[in-house]
Amino acid sequence: MNNTQRTVRVLTQRPYEVVIGPGVLERAQAFIERRSGAFIVLTDENVEPLYLEGLGLSDKERVLTVPPGEGTKSFEHLERVLDFMAAGGLDRASFLVALGGGVIGDLGSLAASLYMRGVEVVQCPTTLLSQVDSSVGGKTAVNLQAGKNLAGSFHQPCAVFADTRTLASLESEEFRSGLGEVVKSALIGDKELLARLEGETIALLDRDPELLGEIVERCVGVKRAIVERDEREAGDRKKLNLGHTFAHAIERVAGYGTVPHGIAVGTGLVLALEASQQSGTLRDGTLPERVRRLLDTLGIPVSLPVLRRRYDVALPGEDLLDAMRLDKKGTAGMPRFILVAEIGEVAVDCELEPGLLAQRFE
Ligand code: GLY
Repeated sequence: MNNTQRTVRVLTQRPYEVVIGPGVLERAQAFIERRSGAFIVLTDENVEPLYLEGLGLSDKERVLTVPPGEGTKSFEHLERVLDFMAAGGLDRASFLVALGGGVIGDLGSLAASLYMRGVEVVQCPTTLLSQVDSSVGGKTAVNLQAGKNLAGSFHQPCAVFADTRTLASLESEEFRSGLGEVVKSALIGDKELLARLEGETIALLDRDPELLGEIVERCVGVKRAIVERDEREAGDRKKLNLGHTFAHAIERVAGYGTVPHGIAVGTGLVLALEASQQSGTLRDGTLPERVRRLLDTLGIPVSLPVLRRRYDVALPGEDLLDAMRLDKKGTAGMPRFILVAEIGEVAVDCELEPGLLAQRFE
């Protein structure tokens, strides 16, 4: 096995490094040991038996293990984490280590941003989706009844350790979910990445460690460039939401946790590309078919009918439209979309004609 480790430096107001590659949890361990200050580790019941040991922790009293799944991104669990930090005697010089996927990263970093008005968070993402997207950039969140990620803050991590060895143990559905976000990153800003994905689907689905390391590095590179320009999503960062207006509506109407986020994003990318074409925004007319073909090979539904059948959900068009009106990217009840002209050229805050939108939901 090749052991290449890669580092991406994110130059936000407080810069930090994203270290990527097989075995980087050992580097996380060294990083934690070097720091002064008390800490806790937040993880979930699936990840703890597999990877907690990789952090070399002997003191289990510092570890809070929560149930896996989207339901854990709640105020109830946020309070549990904050109480655990207080019971552990954490002070302002302390920090939290988030070991797990997107749920653990979002919940842990929100707790870190709130505890004593903010302590540091070290992200150790263990899913493809969290390595390529959610662990980098400082978004934190829990869900509300009214929608996903509606309560949160911006709180950049002080370091990210993305150990690509952890990707070998992911269930195929979870792995595919990460691939949806990978394709999104390629469309937003990495032409070569899209070509690599198309040319290397077999190695990709075999989870070739060297290829995965390169892919995570490229996706983090796309995100880094955007987040450095627009840390708090005043404009440019909205590009990272490509496919997400559709995806969030799908997740909400299906019931959170029914369709994995990255899978909904994958289908959302096709819908966004088709809408880009219909509205006349798209310049590269080959893209919808290229992306459909790639996603199909990767096992991601390329249309709503396929998604409905795969997950046995009705997803009525009217319900999807209603859900979109609640989307936090919208204003005054009007959903906003990210549309594509060509790879790397993406327009934010676009409106779509209601008739055109309804067609997408047939
Ligand atoms: N996942 C989108 C963002 O971090 O802005």
